[in-house]
Amino acid sequence: MSGAFQAPRGIPDYFPPNSADFRKVRDTLTDAARRAGYGHIELPIFEDTALFARGVGESTDVVSKEMYTFNDRGDRSVTLRPEGTAGVVRAVIQHGLDRGQLPVKVCYAGPFFRYEKPQTGRYRQLQQVGVEAIGVDDPALDAEVVAVADEGYKRLGLSGYRLEITSLGDDASRPRYREALQDFLFKLDLDEATRKRAEINPLRVLDDKRPEIKEATANAPLLIDYLSDEAKAHFDLVLANLDRLGVAYEINPRLVRGLDYYTKTTFEFVHDGLGAQSGIGGGGRYDGLMRQLGAKQDLSGIGFGIGVDRTMLALEAEGVAGTQAARCQVFGVPLGADAKAELVGVAGALRAAGLSVDLAYGDRGLKGAMKAADRSGARLALVLGENELAERQVEVKDLSNGEQHRISLDDVVVEVTRLLG
Ligand code: HAM
Repeated sequence: MSGAFQAPRGIPDYFPPNSADFRKVRDTLTDAARRAGYGHIELPIFEDTALFARGVGESTDVVSKEMYTFNDRGDRSVTLRPEGTAGVVRAVIQHGLDRGQLPVKVCYAGPFFRYEKPQTGRYRQLQQVGVEAIGVDDPALDAEVVAVADEGYKRLGLSGYRLEITSLGDDASRPRYREALQDFLFKLDLDEATRKRAEINPLRVLDDKRPEIKEATANAPLLIDYLSDEAKAHFDLVLANLDRLGVAYEINPRLVRGLDYYTKTTFEFVHDGLGAQSGIGGGGRYDGLMRQLGAKQDLSGIGFGIGVDRTMLALEAEGVAGTQAARCQVFGVPLGADAKAELVGVAGALRAAGLSVDLAYGDRGLKGAMKAADRSGARLALVLGENELAERQVEVKDLSNGEQHRISLDDVVVEVTRLLG
C-alpha cells in the first residue's frame, strides 16, 4: 500500500488560489444576511441522532440513507449534521431564545455531511450558508429570506439562475391533498417500496427521479390547487412582496424539497450551467418544526440553505470565478543574510502597522525572488542588498509600473504606508 494519504472520498479541500472564491462566496452571502439583521450562530458539528431523525423526517433520503451516524464512547448515537435547520431550532428551544425579541434571526456557515454518491457538485462534506427567522408568521418575512439569498447571488455576479417557488400549504390544506394524491398514486402500478412511500409520505413519490415514475406521476394532482384560503392568501402576499423587492420567480407547483419539515412557502434556486446538481440553494417555511422538536409553543420559522460548493461551480460556469486576491501588499526581497535579518524586522514593523507583508524565504537569487514577488500580487517590493543596507537604505519597486527608488530604512513604515496610499 502506498504511504500517501488521500482525503476521504467525496470530501473536498479548499486551497489557494481557489479558496479565495470559497471565502468570497461565503462572506458575500453572510454579508447579505447581516445587512438584513441576521446575527451569527455557531452550532455543533454533531448532535443527537434523534434530532435529525425527528426534525428532517425518517422517510427522507437524508435520514434513511445519507447520515453519518455513530455511537460515541458513551454509547450515545450521534450524527454529523446533514443540515442546519434542526440544530438552530434545537438551540432556540434549549436557550429560550424564543422568549426574547421575535423573530429570532440567525445566520450560519459551515460544513454539513451527507453520505451521497460523490460527483461534481455533490459532496459528502458540503458547505452551506444558511439563515433562519423563527417566531413570526408573516409573508413579508418569507419574501425577505428569499430576497437575501437573491441579493447574495447578485452581488457575487451571478445571473444564470432562476428562483422556483411554490406553497406546500398548511395543516388545513394537506389532508385533502394527501387523500387526492394517494387516490391517484394507488391507481398506479407501483413497486412495493414506492407504494409504501405513497402510504407514508405520498408527496415524496413526486420527488422520485426515475423516468418511469416521473412519467406515471406527470398528471398527479398538485398541492397548489388544494390550498386553504389562509395558505393561498399567505402565498399571494409572498409573491406580491417579491415583486416589490424586484426578485424574479417562477411558480413551480411540482417543486418537492428533500426534507420533510416544509409548510407553505418553499423555494429553490436553480442554476442552468451545472448539469444534474443544479440546486444552488433552497429553503422554505417550517411551521410545525418547533413543536416537533419539543417546544411548548409552536412558533413558525422560515430559512434557506445555500450550497457554497455549487455556487462556486456556478461562478465558474458563468466565467466570474477566479478571484484575484493579492496575498500581500508588500513583498520583501533580501539579498544576503544580513539583509534578511533586517527585512524580517521590517516585515514585523509593517505588519504591526496593519499592512500585509511576505518575504522571499530560502535564500533565493534576485531573479527567483522577484518572480515570487510578482506572483504574490504585492504592489510594492522591498529589495535589500548589502550595499543598500550599509547606507541604511532600501530599494522600493512599484510592481504595478516598474518604478523604483530608494527610501531610508529608518522611515520605511511611514514611507511604505504613504506609497500605498
Ligand atoms: P437542502 O436543499 O437540503 O436544504 O440543501 C441546501 C443546499 O445545499 C442545496 O441547494 C445545495 O446547493 C447544497 N447541497 C445539498 N447537498 C449537497 C451535496 N451533497 N453536495 C453539495 N452541495 C449540496 C437544507 O439543507 C435546508 N436546511 C435549508 C433550509 C434552511 N430550509 C429552511 N431553512
